[in-house]
Amino acid sequence: MPKVTVHRKAHFNAAHRLYRKDWSDEKNLAVFGKCSNPNYHGHNYELIVAVTGEVDSETGYVYDLGKLKKLIFSEVEEAFDHKNLNVEVAEFKELNPTAENISIVIYNKLRIHIPSNLELEVTLYETPRNFVNYKGE
Ligand code: NI
Repeated sequence: MPKVTVHRKAHFNAAHRLYRKDWSDEKNLAVFGKCSNPNYHGHNYELIVAVTGEVDSETGYVYDLGKLKKLIFSEVEEAFDHKNLNVEVAEFKELNPTAENISIVIYNKLRIHIPSNLELEVTLYETPRNFVNYKGE
């Protein structure tokens, strides 16, 4: 059967601060620059979730995009949108909320709901020009 990738785009706004508690303010500033601002700053995150697999011969679907929309809403948008990631999102209490780490957290939250025969890839734009992707490797 042919393999096809289906994509769903989503969006959330969130605040964060990049820093390590065990580093001095000076070292955090040297490594993370203005992203270590103790008063936090925000991003308009753009998310693309891609699911790859064989087209089901009965439905013609790889994965129902309506289901994917609901899954992204409940697992990502409700959890992250208009939140301070460091303060309000449990996954980042001890994990620096870089785009890299946010993409891994999103992947792990979605992966458990998507059948194991389908491949999952998460692409996260932190700014229009800076983005990361993660496929669980
Ligand atoms: Ni930032």
